[in-house]
Amino acid sequence: MIDKINEYIDSFIEYPSEILGILEKAHQERINVQPNITKQGARLLYCLILFKKAKSVLEIGTCLGYSAIWAGEALRKTGGRLTTIEIDERFVKENVENIKQAKLDHIIEVVNGDAKDYLEKDSTRYDLIIIDSNKPLYNKIIDRCIDLLNPKGIIFSDDTLFLPMGYKERLAKPMDEYNKYVMQHPKLETVILPVGDGITISFVTQTMQ
Ligand SMILES: C[S@@+](CC[C@H](N)C(=O)[O-])C[C@H]1O[C@@H](n2cnc3c(N)ncnc32)[C@H](O)[C@@H]1O
Repeated sequence: MIDKINEYIDSFIEYPSEILGILEKAHQERINVQPNITKQGARLLYCLILFKKAKSVLEIGTCLGYSAIWAGEALRKTGGRLTTIEIDERFVKENVENIKQAKLDHIIEVVNGDAKDYLEKDSTRYDLIIIDSNKPLYNKIIDRCIDLLNPKGIIFSDDTLFLPMGYKERLAKPMDEYNKYVMQHPKLETVILPVGDGITISFVTQTMQ
């Protein structure tokens, strides 16, 4: 049943860039890369950037650049920019090339480094922050992300339903803790959506002091 629903929804989603189909296939076939955000999750991200008319977006966890290119295509329409951080140098070499091929290198800047260190030094204000890195990092950076958001900014986090989906404890537990934290946070309004492996969207209703 759920497969049929997903097939139906996916049939409406067109890639805004040709390279996205190639990257999706690479993620499925290669064993050395972590999964990309799903097509439905990517479409949700794309629409959120458009609805929000976002101008400044930050992504944590680029991998091959699949979600970055989706976000970049939306930012091409809003006139915005994306900074995306990837810790693994091998992926940076590839994603820079993929972003160039998508003709988004004037919109997307790739930073090679640890997102935690980057966030501590960063003072940019963002309209939207995408979190899709290693799972324990979510809880370590969430407060700093809230701090860096513009008023009414959005945090878009992927893979947040790992616990009910039966993933290993080391992956599932931090995701459960993350959901609990953002759900009860007094400065956030949060919704958890069963899109892909779970997407948690938090809207800042008040900025941190
Ligand atoms: C799930 S993949 C990202 C997929 C990508 N967002 C997409 O949908 O196309 C997670 C990525 O986060 C990177 N990563 C893990 N820890 C990180 C850190 N501390 N700082 C930056 N990137 C990190 C990993 O190397 C990996 O490439």
